Amino acid sequence: MIPRYLIDEDWARLPSYQAEVIVVGVGIAGLFTAIRAAETAKVLLITKKSLMDSNTRYAQGGIAAVISKEDSPVYHREDTLHAGAGLCDPAAVDVLVEEGPQGVWDLIELGTQFDRENGELALTKEGAHSRRRILHANGDATGYEIVRALSEKAAAHPNIEVWEEHFAIDLLTDEDECLGVLVQKPDGSRVTVLGKATILCSGGTGQLYRYTTNPAVATGDGIAMAYRAGAAVRDMEFVQFHPTALVYPGAPRFLISEALRGEGAVLRNIHGERFMDRYDLQAELAPRDIVARAIVSEMEKTRSTYVYIDITHETEEMVKHRFPTIYQTCLEYGLDLATDWIPVAPAAHYMMGGIATDLHGETTIRRLFACGEVSSTGVHGANRLASNSLSEAIVFGRRIVERIRGLEPHGRSLYPASGTPRSEHPRQAFIEKRLKLQKIMLRHVGVNRTAEGLVKGLEELKRQLPIFDCCLTKREEYEFANLLTCALLTTSGALSREESRGGHYREDFPERDDRTWFKHLTFTRENGLREEAILDVVGAE
Ligand code: SIN
Repeated sequence: MIPRYLIDEDWARLPSYQAEVIVVGVGIAGLFTAIRAAETAKVLLITKKSLMDSNTRYAQGGIAAVISKEDSPVYHREDTLHAGAGLCDPAAVDVLVEEGPQGVWDLIELGTQFDRENGELALTKEGAHSRRRILHANGDATGYEIVRALSEKAAAHPNIEVWEEHFAIDLLTDEDECLGVLVQKPDGSRVTVLGKATILCSGGTGQLYRYTTNPAVATGDGIAMAYRAGAAVRDMEFVQFHPTALVYPGAPRFLISEALRGEGAVLRNIHGERFMDRYDLQAELAPRDIVARAIVSEMEKTRSTYVYIDITHETEEMVKHRFPTIYQTCLEYGLDLATDWIPVAPAAHYMMGGIATDLHGETTIRRLFACGEVSSTGVHGANRLASNSLSEAIVFGRRIVERIRGLEPHGRSLYPASGTPRSEHPRQAFIEKRLKLQKIMLRHVGVNRTAEGLVKGLEELKRQLPIFDCCLTKREEYEFANLLTCALLTTSGALSREESRGGHYREDFPERDDRTWFKHLTFTRENGLREEAILDVVGAE
């Protein structure tokens, strides 16, 4: 069993630091929530790297919200529910589509400069959206622009203290209430931080996979920490593989935005044939899970490790203007986006599952909140609609801040307690361990899954469990423990769910089965895995 704490330490003896609101993570969810909370409270913002290191920074396509007169929350709702393949919580989707536009105005007020055309906000389309509703910045650098604007505000805010290079190891709880967090400082010493509310905004689990569009920091720390503390974590089997990440010798799996297909780019197999219309009526603009599986199928049929994305119907001027970052990155590898077909393949991109929350971002542990990819608010169901993640972060960030404004301090102090005593172990190569885990996940828990592969994957992952008996002291060691926890949850969920839906595809159960599987899979450390019929989900108010 995964232990309650990662380390063995008497918390009551450690130096203690008091904050009103603790925010862990500095993507859009962390920065936005910290800035809004700081209007009325002292905020401590903790990140394991720097203010500019987050997954948000790499977001290209944009942020989805109903801005155009031709659009309506009703259409945005329909598209989100359709992509979510039956597992969205309609109440959470209503929150997203109704409150999304206000979130966009908030971002603009905080200094984000979205692209405009003729003075109006420019809107593009992406897969499975029925209307143009994706705002973008500097062409394809939307995430970077949002992080630039928000991190400048957060760094300058008199009510926000930023701790960079600090690692949040574990949550401190008492009787199902969160008191704060245990933190390791850059010099290796540890402190406890206590506050009236703790908000996890620490992102997803992209590093579970060998090929991912996510940066190295996406190691599922918040999900694993909340699971150890007893919070409910759900739907971890639903992993979104982005259909088009660059495949080129020596290049990272760099995202080739879905917005290319929104602007008319087509997919071709290595023989140059278009194939998407053989898989779905929406062709290149079908939901991501369908496009990713179609690509894998074409790769298998043609015995290739990639297909091509082709936007050569556009002018060089348009491509350079609309996709400057992608254009430049491809050029570094000798590929000209305006004239060449670009080799691409699916790569892990987004975790639909996460820490279960209600409609104000509160988890099953009181005073513990989750926002952004780390959370499972019910918005994404089994498959996230493109560009809904940035909107979700601001909409639910706002709601969390409303909820915590009324919270009194918990007034508790830490009781003397510690984790399980651990013995010193010979130092292990944690980077190699991470690579091994990533290979297991790619091989057995990837785009296509089978019971045989999942059982094998689970066995191989379980062989790593003894690391929890080791005395862990370094960031990469904690990260590996967190990844292993998330890998076990994802693989167990995938093995249990004997159907195919959204981001979970079982070759041995290829159909969606609403009669048996119209439910969430929820894990808690104490009670293991539970199936929850859709009407009982956390968050369905
Ligand atoms: C993309 O630009 O294709 C990614 C957008 C997203 O994941 O929402």
